[in-house]
Amino acid sequence: MPETTHVDYSTKIPNNVGLMDDQRVLKALEQWHPGYIDWWMTMGPEGFQTSDVYLRTAISIDPKGWAKFDYVKMPEYRWGILLAPRHEERQVNFGAHRGEKAWQEVPGEYRAMLRRLIVIQGDTEPASVEQQRFLGKTAPSLYDMRNLFQVNVEEGRHLWAMVYLLHKYFGKDGREEADELLNRRSGDADKPRMLGAFNEQTPDWLSFFMFTTFTDRDGKMQLESLAQSGFDPLSRTCRFMLTEEAHHMFVGETGVGRVIERTCQAMKEAGIEDADDIAAVRKLGVIDLPTLQKKANLHFSLSLDLFGSEVSTNAANYYNSGVKGRFQETRIEDDHLLTNATYPVSKLVHGQIKMVDEPALTAINMRLRDDYVADCAKGVERWNKAIEKAGVKYRLALPHVAFHRHIGEFQNVKASPGGEVLGDAAWAAQKDRWLPSKADGDFIESLMQPCWERGQFASWIAPPKVGIDNKAGDFEYVKIHQA
Ligand SMILES: [Fe+2]
Ligand SMILES: [Fe+2]
Repeated sequence: MPETTHVDYSTKIPNNVGLMDDQRVLKALEQWHPGYIDWWMTMGPEGFQTSDVYLRTAISIDPKGWAKFDYVKMPEYRWGILLAPRHEERQVNFGAHRGEKAWQEVPGEYRAMLRRLIVIQGDTEPASVEQQRFLGKTAPSLYDMRNLFQVNVEEGRHLWAMVYLLHKYFGKDGREEADELLNRRSGDADKPRMLGAFNEQTPDWLSFFMFTTFTDRDGKMQLESLAQSGFDPLSRTCRFMLTEEAHHMFVGETGVGRVIERTCQAMKEAGIEDADDIAAVRKLGVIDLPTLQKKANLHFSLSLDLFGSEVSTNAANYYNSGVKGRFQETRIEDDHLLTNATYPVSKLVHGQIKMVDEPALTAINMRLRDDYVADCAKGVERWNKAIEKAGVKYRLALPHVAFHRHIGEFQNVKASPGGEVLGDAAWAAQKDRWLPSKADGDFIESLMQPCWERGQFASWIAPPKVGIDNKAGDFEYVKIHQA
């Protein structure tokens, strides 16, 4: 069957890439499948594998009607391989090969590069499922529980998407890499996931909402730049993944927004004007805004590390080779070669944070990070609007890019959220004001009591404005059957 917008469900692996006619890849994927299910059963959402979850499944790549909703037991979710439609006239849009026809096969000279990019992207997908696997037990509502599981199954599908590329285009070493994607474990000392933020814990629901706001948004930026790739199957894969990714950021941003709404409402009812009166606010069974700020500081800074070094010859090579572009590459008005262009990079110069012009080619990571920061800032502004509307005097803000970094220019300095470079003593004295402390974690944990009654929500979070798939407020999003 040729590639279509409709998805073929007759094979074990739903797909729109004509797997039926590609026995080699179909067999390889069928061999990989049991290991995947095994991974899902041991590392996926714990305790809910036999519950019926109201999930959306991709059934088409037509943007107007790509998904359907129904009750599914997660291990029976139809993880499929879906690529956005192929455009015959598509070209390589940047770098040394600009103007050539987009590649349908991997160019030999860029094989290692492409494989590495695909493996790194692929590794993040199962990692987040692992990080989030215990959260179902403390879900603040069935609505939230369902959203968590939706994100989880889709991250599983994203893993499939990358594994398909490895099997289809990279032969034996592709198969080995696909197996390794099931062997690494988030946070494992011996075989950790590849990137730092994906080895951190997601211990509570506020972490989950911050993670989906900030770290899934890094995912969006990476997918956006891979969607520009001259390697067409990668581009098409990433374009379809982005439709799912939007929901993950929705879950995060509205999740934090609902926490804010509930906190402000409780403060108003209790007549508390001072948002910094943490003890008084916490007595109300809601999360104080300064703690939200600390959580945002943590997740934002960990996510910034995912962009790599500000100045990077790898990034320059990816770009020049046409394998990874910039955010919205085709909408940028320049030569798309960047041979003579410069780009301002924030750097540490003699102990001071300064903007320095660097060759734009080597500053590709910095540029993508800037686009990311601007995108994050819009989300924070929406949160601030909600605080303002509630009549509470407090503003959330993104910390400076030098704050709490482990990779790149600022990895060896301590800086305040305002961007002031600090000595070790000053940092140690104030760090608990800027990052979640043990006490903050204990408080949040104390609130993480399951709330699984239909239409009910935990004390610390407001209900959503509208239900998923326009369902009524008391809809049973998960029929819990605990294994
Ligand atoms: Fe993903
Ligand atoms: Fe995601």
